[in-house]
Amino acid sequence: MLRRLYHDQPASFEFTQANLAWAKGQITKYPEGRQASAIIPLLWRAQEQEGWLSRAAIEHVADMLGMAHIRALEVATFYFMFQLQPVGSVAHIQICGTTSCMICGAEDLIKVCKEKIAAQPHTLSADGKFSWEEVECLGACTNAPMAQIGKDYYEDLTAESLSKLLDDMAAGKVPVPGPQNGRYASEPLSGLTSLKEYEKGRAKYNGSAQRAVDIGDSIKRIDGTEVPLLTPWLGKGAAPAAKAPAKKAAAAAKPAKAEKPAAKADAKPAKAKKPRTLKAARKGGADDLKMIKGVGPKLEEMLNGMGFYHFDQVAAWTEAELAWVDDNIEGFKGRASRDGWIDQAKILAGGGQTEFSNRVKKGDVY
Ligand code: FES
Repeated sequence: MLRRLYHDQPASFEFTQANLAWAKGQITKYPEGRQASAIIPLLWRAQEQEGWLSRAAIEHVADMLGMAHIRALEVATFYFMFQLQPVGSVAHIQICGTTSCMICGAEDLIKVCKEKIAAQPHTLSADGKFSWEEVECLGACTNAPMAQIGKDYYEDLTAESLSKLLDDMAAGKVPVPGPQNGRYASEPLSGLTSLKEYEKGRAKYNGSAQRAVDIGDSIKRIDGTEVPLLTPWLGKGAAPAAKAPAKKAAAAAKPAKAEKPAAKADAKPAKAKKPRTLKAARKGGADDLKMIKGVGPKLEEMLNGMGFYHFDQVAAWTEAELAWVDDNIEGFKGRASRDGWIDQAKILAGGGQTEFSNRVKKGDVY
């Protein structure tokens, strides 16, 4: 397949503050002069943030790593995991079309994608919510046919079950990943014939599906919402000698933009302090917290339950209070700082609109 950059490119790309700290931390993993080794994780993070890789994002990453743009373009255009065109705002559906899946009905699944999303792969649906593509074996052949959606596998699919998954996702639901035909994992459909003792006391879903259900946000994780991994390999009170290479590595990352990684990535988190809360929304009702990027219906409910109803409450959080919130939004830890809730809330509390809230108002975000 010919992999070219998309014809309609954004003018610029910037990592969010949290992603930038994460990216700079990744650079410190590699010895001096080898910063280019961080190319794949950084491109992947850029894709998680935006959904796809624009030329600006690829070049931005190349600059951070002191690489010629063409070298980063070579990587981005070589690996199929990098999306070079916009993907659906809700989900990008990757249907496995390799042998097991093809024999078991992948073509029916592709037909559903063609009918419900777009006739051609890598094309946005009319409402912009979905896109799809056929991919090679994803290693879940015993549960064929299957699709990867976001970071999760949906297995043992039929045309009907895929169609329902798409409808559910379009309606804002987060379906349970894993086998869709009642199987727990990849045992015979009729049930286990041996090792039955392991059925007792097991989680409701198999390990992968259970984790996704616990996080409760499986299709949104693709936009970079997982807990940021900074620099645990440098250790919290690591001896100065252990930290020195990080600084050297940072200094070697060109241009100067990437010169302060270790300091920021290792910055001690603020001591968490619970913000002031309200027993109920003020007269006039609660603000629509879903106008803040990163807050969906589930999180809004959680925030209300914690006593946060208004933009000005969020806007007034101190760093320590933000750390408390980050730590107490079960299943979404770290999201408040990753998505810059305070900055967004300041704008919204002042009566302004953010790029995201404008999109919500237009109905571009479900
Ligand atoms: S053939 Fe589809 S997952 Fe392997």
